[in-house]
Formats: sequence, C-alpha cells, structure tokens
Amino acid sequence: MSATTTTPIDLSSGFPSPSLFPLQQLNHATNTVLSTPSIWHEGMIYGPDEGHSPLRRNIARWLSRFYHLDETTSTPGASKIEAERICITGGASQNLACILQVFTDPVYTRNVFIIEPAYFLAFRAFEDAGFVGRLTGVPEDEEGVDVEFLEESLKKDELSSSPDIKPFKPERPYRKLYRHIIYCVPTFSNPSGRIMSLSRREALVHLARKYDALIIADDVYDFVHFPTDASSMDSPSPQFKHILPRLVDIDKTLDGGPIDSFGNCMSNGSFSKIVGPGCRVGWAEGTPAFAYGLSQAGSTHSGGAPSHMMSTFINEMLEPSGDDTCAVTRHIVTKLIPTYARRYSLLATAVQEYLTPLGVISPIENKYHVVGGFFLWLRLPPSLTSTEVVAAAREDGVVIGNGAVSALPEGNLRCGTYGDMIRLCFAWVDEEQLVEGVKVLAGTIRRLGKEA
Ligand SMILES: Cc1ncc(COP(=O)(O)O)c(C=O)c1O
Repeated sequence: MSATTTTPIDLSSGFPSPSLFPLQQLNHATNTVLSTPSIWHEGMIYGPDEGHSPLRRNIARWLSRFYHLDETTSTPGASKIEAERICITGGASQNLACILQVFTDPVYTRNVFIIEPAYFLAFRAFEDAGFVGRLTGVPEDEEGVDVEFLEESLKKDELSSSPDIKPFKPERPYRKLYRHIIYCVPTFSNPSGRIMSLSRREALVHLARKYDALIIADDVYDFVHFPTDASSMDSPSPQFKHILPRLVDIDKTLDGGPIDSFGNCMSNGSFSKIVGPGCRVGWAEGTPAFAYGLSQAGSTHSGGAPSHMMSTFINEMLEPSGDDTCAVTRHIVTKLIPTYARRYSLLATAVQEYLTPLGVISPIENKYHVVGGFFLWLRLPPSLTSTEVVAAAREDGVVIGNGAVSALPEGNLRCGTYGDMIRLCFAWVDEEQLVEGVKVLAGTIRRLGKEA
C-alpha cells in the first residue's frame, strides 16, 4: 500500500456511501411513528404475515407510479398494482430464501437456472434449499439472457427426467411447487450492468410458462438510472420512470395474463439500494395467490413479516405529500440520480483515460443509452488474471471485485469462469477517491503487465 494511503480505496463494496443515506427523512419518519401511538403500538408487536398493511398499499401505489401502470403504458392491458400483490420482506436476500422454502422442493424441482455472470451472494440460498450441484448457468449477451440456450437445457432435462417424480414436501393449499427456477437480475444486472431487452423478457416468460418454471427477478436496481452521457441529463429533475416493464408486469398481461393463479414470475424488490441496506426491508410482488403463499413461509407465519417496526418507518417515507411524491421518490430524484450520474461519469472517464490504453476493455454502450446499477464490468488484458490483479491492487491500496466469484460454484454447470473480469463499484466511495482508485489500479496493471 502507498505510504500516504492508510485505508484502501474500496471500489468493491456494492452499496451506497453513508453520504447518500436519507437521514433527515428517516429522522422525520421515526419521529412521526414514535409519537403516534396507533402506529408504534402496531409496529412494536407481531404483525400480519403479509406485512404492515399501510406499507403494502403505499408500495403498490408507488410502484404503479414508477412503472406507470396507472397511466398509458408500454405494457398493453397493464393496470394499477393492487396491495394484495405485495408481500413485505426482509430484503431481497432474505426473501430469496423464503421463496425457495415455499415454492421449491429438493426432489420435484429439477433445476435452478442462473443467468451468468451472476450475483454471487445468491448461490448459498440455493445451496441451503437443497440445490447443491444442480445450478445451471445461462449465458447473456448484449440483450440479456440467451433464451435459446435455456430452452435447449429445458428440453434436454424433459427428455432425461421421469414425468412422475413425487415431491418430498407435502401438498399445501397456499403454495405451488415449481419444476424449475430461473434466477436473474433483468435491469442493470450485478455484475454486468446489462439490461434484458423487451423481446427477451417476453420470450423468457413464454418459456417459464411452457416448462413450469418460476422466474425470480431481483429488481433491486430499477429505480436509479441516468443517460450514458450524464451531461444530457434532464437535470435538475430527472424522471422517476421505469425503462422497461418488469417480468412480473409482462406475466400479468401477456396473452391474457398468468396461466394459473400463482403465475410464473415474481419481482424481488428492496429498499437496500435506495434507502440503506441496514433497513432490511423489501417487498415481493406476484399474483395475489403467490404473495399470500410467500407470506406462509414458516418463519413469517410465526410472528408475521420481518422488519415490522422498520416497515412503519419506511412507510412514512412513502406517504404521498402535496405534490403526490414521497420522501423516497424525492431522495431518488434529487440526490441519488444526480450523484450516481456524476460518479459514473467520473469513473467511466477515468477508466477510459487510465485503463483502456493498458488493454482493459469496458462495456459497450447498451441500446437504451442509459446506465444504472452500481457497477462497471471490465475485461483485463489477456496476460492477466483477475485473481492476481485483485491481490496486487489490494497491496497497492485499492480493493476491486474479482469477476471469478460471479461464476457458479464448482460442481455446477457453469458457462464461464470470468477469471479475466473485474467489477468496479461507483456507489460506495466518494468522488475524489473514484479517480484515485482507478489511477492506483492502472499502476498495478502496468506493473503486472511488465512482469508477465
Ligand atoms: C442482484 C442483487 N440482489 C440482491 C441484493 C441484496 O439485496 P438485499 O439487501 O435487499 O438483501 C443485491 C445486493 O448487492 C444484489 O446486487
């Protein structure tokens, strides 16, 4: 580490820096709750399985607005989101585990398909649910998931498996066990930042219906996006508006709607990236039957939805005020979008200036000309591996993400190793450190390149 730097510059951690937490708004929300007995009485005791009712209603209204389902919409037939479609969760990770507990069976559910490169912290939830060695990677290109590859895998599985496998778990009226799981991050994927195109989304929903699969979509990065050229941003009021309909919106409307009461898609949402990860509050959206079934997970049914008191605080931040926006929306529009746009622009420019000349390849611009999520996904020059660059950069004072962790764990059907990829995050460190971090990394790559 350089003599002047004592704390390494962290371009690895994937969450907002403390300067981006909406503390004043949270303070106001907690004061309101704690000085209103009718709210805190409810918040401090066990709550409903589906979660704090006012929060379910406010999330439904807020999502309707963001995905414009209450106005003219690109999804024909889409309508307002009803509160019955929402179940409050302890965040996307906790909820992934609950979904697998309720809707999969270690015997009957044949495969877990994961779009690669993947959000690596999800792997253990699949292993915990009994799918060790049964994960299959599905590659993505500029338009997202390779649906042909996925269909081939599903067809092969049909041919090799017996049609009358009995589930290990008993039948329950509140749930359905799916034959396959498809896990993806359709918008601003972690780590690749890619956006799955509308045609791929539709094709994916068709496939899920045909092969009895549940698509679990982590829609955690949808809310913050900005043009690739930040100077063309409609500042000072960027729009609070989606880019594409979610998979769950498509399942709601495609060919007349879901093929059964549970549907084939769910949206896994979270306040981690837009309020703060320590809140551990999120939401799941699916058909009303799916949302109810999810709320019947054993750990939820005993005591009610997680993070109940915190749910009351978040709910205050979602209460519409005079201009029909709420504290969370205003925070996204006035703070998060402008800050991330600036940080992204600084990071992308620094990468171009210091890393591209060394042979590092940065992502191609997507056809939507928007960026979001928290990451830049970069390919190293052919002579270097991500593992050696990550270790050497750490010694030089900068922490970066190793692409190799985004491959499925060994023993599963992976489609790549990503041992030549690194992930840089622009959410955690403040602006000056972003450029400094890239300069340090350039020095590391230059040094290793000479040694190679
Ligand atoms: C794709 C994806 N899903 C889920 C999470 C975690 O969400 P939560 O904090 O709500 O558990 C992250 C955080 O990095 C993520 O990138």
